[in-house]
Amino acid sequence: LDDAVHNPEEKEYSSVSVCVGREADIKKSKRMTAVVHDREVVIFYHKGEYHAMDIRCYHSGGPLHLGEIEDFDGRSCIVCPWHKFKITLATGEGLYQSKNPKDPSAKPEWCSKGIKQRIHRVTVENGNIYVTLSKEPFKCDSDFYATGIYKVIRSSS
Ligand code: FES
Repeated sequence: LDDAVHNPEEKEYSSVSVCVGREADIKKSKRMTAVVHDREVVIFYHKGEYHAMDIRCYHSGGPLHLGEIEDFDGRSCIVCPWHKFKITLATGEGLYQSKNPKDPSAKPEWCSKGIKQRIHRVTVENGNIYVTLSKEPFKCDSDFYATGIYKVIRSSS
């Protein structure tokens, strides 16, 4: 039995982390892109925390490293530049606003579609940033654009 079976709260990651850059650099640029074991990721530095996720948006493969970060319902999200989908930095959840059709005057509420974008682990050691890929065994929508023919390495658009 592996650790994930013993402790379902424990997230599964690849055992090999990859150094993607310097802490001093990302603190200035606020974001960076990297290829980690053949998977393209974006790393954000936001409100004093690091977040790494698949670079291609789960919806249609939009370039998340070119999006703006905004708070919705108190949660920091990257807003995809293509169709404005909102993805939480901390968990990769897709957020949307729902309106009550029976009460059009009611304020729309923010809801979660669940985890749509795969989040990877960021660690800092001796001023270097390391990313460890998530190996959690669920099908995440962003996997589609992170693997196979849709994968675009080091794309800038
Ligand atoms: Fe990201 Fe459509 S590709 S919102």
